[in-house]
Amino acid sequence: MAERRRIAVVPGDGIGKEVIAEGRALLVELDRAMSLGLELVDKDWGADRYLETGRGMPEDALDDLRDNYDAVYFGALGDDRIPDMAHGREILLGMRFGLDLWANVRPVKVLDPALCPLKDKGPDDVDMVIFRENTEDLYVAVGGTFKEGTPDEVAVDQSVNSRKGVERIVRHAFDYAQKTGRKKVTMSDKSNAVRYGGGLWQRVFQEVQKDFPDIAADHLFVDVAAMEMVRAPERFDVVVCNNLFGDILSDLGAALIGSLGLAASGNIHPGRIGLFEPVHGSAPDIAGQGVANPMAAFLTAAMMLEFLEVQPAADAIRQAVQGAIEQRQVTPDLGGQGTTQSVSAHVREACLAIVAG
Ligand SMILES: NC(=O)c1ccc[n+]([C@@H]2O[C@H](COP(=O)([O-])OP(=O)(O)OC[C@H]3O[C@@H](n4cnc5c(N)ncnc54)[C@H](O)[C@@H]3O)[C@@H](O)[C@H]2O)c1
Repeated sequence: MAERRRIAVVPGDGIGKEVIAEGRALLVELDRAMSLGLELVDKDWGADRYLETGRGMPEDALDDLRDNYDAVYFGALGDDRIPDMAHGREILLGMRFGLDLWANVRPVKVLDPALCPLKDKGPDDVDMVIFRENTEDLYVAVGGTFKEGTPDEVAVDQSVNSRKGVERIVRHAFDYAQKTGRKKVTMSDKSNAVRYGGGLWQRVFQEVQKDFPDIAADHLFVDVAAMEMVRAPERFDVVVCNNLFGDILSDLGAALIGSLGLAASGNIHPGRIGLFEPVHGSAPDIAGQGVANPMAAFLTAAMMLEFLEVQPAADAIRQAVQGAIEQRQVTPDLGGQGTTQSVSAHVREACLAIVAG
């Protein structure tokens, strides 16, 4: 009997619903074929529920997740009827902060040189993993406004950086490099201008690197890092930075691999429940048209299965996605004519063929 792995499935809004339905179907088939012990529990957390009940998720949702689940498989939130994203703050930021999922992990790997917008760059050049601190910095909502609504209005957001918060993400990036055979960790900050938070990141980075003598430690100011990711992406291996810079650099990373529809991410706190989500949002411009690229959701499922320690299933998904790209079984964002369903059916069949040997 396989170990039980309990997963909350939260499609959310817009294309989140479309791509997570396909990812869920893939997980069900893989579970049937490989006896992974997956138990998928569907959650209707999102805009519809928020508009009907005034809450995006049940009040005890975080306790329930913490006590009874191993992972969350999440789609996207975003609905024109809730312009201030109140439900997004409650559900997604609620889970990231409430479950203390302090590491946001975003792999950036080109799967096909034809998809990379950079001239003469391919899978060997663009292959990095970005570790974004996920619970501090400007996202903690510490601040306020003064003389709001007047010509003298002032708005202040404070960037919060704790030694504990910085050290655990920096150490995690080095640990990851060591475990996966990567050679270099680049820390990116703006310590030349942002004195106190930047200074803390610098000190912690210099301390932690001493514990990893086999891993090269590198530093770039974030403005230079953005330039270098485009000019010479091959110089990056593992990247670690604060919440805001990680948010921006990882979207740049998504552009380097060819589409947001290929970018996967995990929000983790080692030893606890993890939350896995495609990087993209609810894409209202294409929602309901059946053309959303499901590959980010598949690669997200692969990250989740790796986290749940079923590596062969994760490998099979990645191989099947790679095959579909090589055979041009892709949606319009990657220049193809496939639909969400046709691409998903292709990947699902390929994946099952791979695991059947
Ligand atoms: N994690 C999240 O839930 C999350 C992340 C980003 C944005 N959002 C929300 O999503 C809504 C839309 O935001 P946005 O338009 O800035 O970002 P978005 O990621 O939804 O879309 C950006 C562009 O990329 C395209 N795109 C995204 N995913 C795609 C896919 N799988 N296949 C093909 N094309 C894809 C979209 O069609 C759009 O043109 C907003 O409400 C925003 O707040 C949510």
